[in-house]
Amino acid sequence: MKILIIGSGAREYSIGLAITKEAESHELYFNPGNGATSNLGTNLNIKDYNELALYVKENGFDLTIVGPEAPLVDGVVDIFRSHALAIFGPTKAAAQLEGSKVYMKNFLAKYDIPTAKFIETDSIEKAFKFTDTLQTPIVVKADGLCAGKGVIIAQSHDEAKVAISEMLSGKSFGDAGRRVVVEEFLDGYELSMFAVCDGDDFILLPAAQDHKRLMDNDQGPNTGGMGAYAPTPLVDDVIYEKVKERIIRPTLDGMKKEGAPFEGVLFIGLMIVKGEPLTLEFNVRFGDPECEILMPLMTSSVSDMFLKAATNRLGEIKVEFSKQFAVGVVMASANYPYGSSTPAEIILDEVHHEEIAQYTHVSFAGVSEKDGKLYADGGRVLVCVGVGDSIKQARDRAYMRCGQVHFAGKRLRTDIAYQAL
Ligand code: AMP
Ligand code: GLY
Repeated sequence: MKILIIGSGAREYSIGLAITKEAESHELYFNPGNGATSNLGTNLNIKDYNELALYVKENGFDLTIVGPEAPLVDGVVDIFRSHALAIFGPTKAAAQLEGSKVYMKNFLAKYDIPTAKFIETDSIEKAFKFTDTLQTPIVVKADGLCAGKGVIIAQSHDEAKVAISEMLSGKSFGDAGRRVVVEEFLDGYELSMFAVCDGDDFILLPAAQDHKRLMDNDQGPNTGGMGAYAPTPLVDDVIYEKVKERIIRPTLDGMKKEGAPFEGVLFIGLMIVKGEPLTLEFNVRFGDPECEILMPLMTSSVSDMFLKAATNRLGEIKVEFSKQFAVGVVMASANYPYGSSTPAEIILDEVHHEEIAQYTHVSFAGVSEKDGKLYADGGRVLVCVGVGDSIKQARDRAYMRCGQVHFAGKRLRTDIAYQAL
């Protein structure tokens, strides 16, 4: 197949790597890709989605896969569909499940899908009144996309009210904060599940756990994610069934009724409270770095799954996963997540150890290439992935691979998957 992957991170790299491994005959393109995706295929640099769709049409591509949320929220899927092209991802209307927290919470309430008790409003009086009915901590969320920063966990009623005022006045997040969600704090453990959907049917992938904080022991600022592992032993079949029956099925049925059938990856941020899964948030794309550890666990064809999902034929296939575990450790640059760092050359040791060669790999993100050398030039630079028969084995292998990757200022957590060990 001739396949385009939109995006430039390790998530997109890992999808490309999985597709490359399944058959050499696949022809891969990335838009824009990064300094390492050019080893898997051809990097394009077409910024206008109409122009990109025409390029894809004229050059006879079979499938386009969209990685990040921004092009989805901007309607890239709608544009490609208007050219009768097969593209994996939700339409602009369906992407509102991630693009607007107000839309998502109202949707959950309308279809009786379990979530935290909440109010959504642009009225400061209503928000304050509801805040007074809640126990602390109190969760305040800006409606729109805020690069992962729009959620405040307030430890007092006063702190919650300050957050509400600053959001509604536009001070903290501009227009993205002019409506807010105020909700009860859920006390449980958090995990992510991913359902590949075709509008009607879905395939639920093994549950993963991310590590959002920068430093060991969940200290330091929030990041896009510093490492992940899957499947997590924190989930049993009972929880999987509850998530399917109470959250995913009604979401797909509900989105159809809303006239926005959901196609693409439904990323469900869950809080498990006393054995009951509640929806914290939806994203409409794969998690990063979760994707990097889920791709190596798939034993059936990755490209076929995306193609069938993009053409409403998921029911025709059986997607299979290995019985192994995968752990991914993110290596970030010196100033992540605060700012950019001076590009540093990346030295990758030659891998001689057979175990490392067979059971680990690197997925590249913020890297550029110059004169045959790779440079770390983004926040999250790469992810070392290890696969094994236990989480411990996968983790040990991932860290062995980390020891073979060098660049000035590299930072990584040393405790990925600690909850499971
Ligand atoms: P969100 O973007 O809505 O997933 O929120 C970001 C993070 O804030 C989540 O990953 C949780 O750790 C936390 N969070 C959000 N909502 C709640 C809630 N109602 N109770 C507890 N923690 C929450
Ligand atoms: N790793 C979490 C995310 O991609 O949003």
